[in-house]
Amino acid sequence: MKIKVIHGPNLNLLGVREPGVYGQETLNEINNGLSRYADELGVAVECYQSNHEGDLVDAIHQAMTDGVDAIVINPGAYTHTSVALRDAVCAVSIPTVEVHLSNIHCREEFRHHSYLAPVCLGQICGLGSRGYRLALLALIEHVKQA
Ligand code: DQA
Repeated sequence: MKIKVIHGPNLNLLGVREPGVYGQETLNEINNGLSRYADELGVAVECYQSNHEGDLVDAIHQAMTDGVDAIVINPGAYTHTSVALRDAVCAVSIPTVEVHLSNIHCREEFRHHSYLAPVCLGQICGLGSRGYRLALLALIEHVKQA
């Protein structure tokens, strides 16, 4: 089973960016931990990060071309603005879970709404980097049951 993990804007700065909100772990540490976890679970993960909306759209399209079984996405601030990312998730019909490190529902009002959540299998937020591992587990079970 192949799972693609897509990180959106500013997540390359994890570790230095607002550590009180997003934690101390760097993106590399999160990705490496996720790869080790995926190995234990017997699935393959491929991680990708971009600060550019169109590149993120392309990464979602590429997942379809590559025969990816499931997507984990933290769209960063594009969560709250991007119809294009929502349409891309719809277009590829690959089961997708949206992840946020912070609890977007108890932060500023503009973070409460997600354009992507309604077209995702589910949303996990507020659990820090553990959210990515939980998303992986949920998607593996979902794909096996499909
Ligand atoms: C975030 C939450 C977003 O509101 C914010 O713009 C981010 C990170 C999170 O992981 O908590 O960049 O997606």
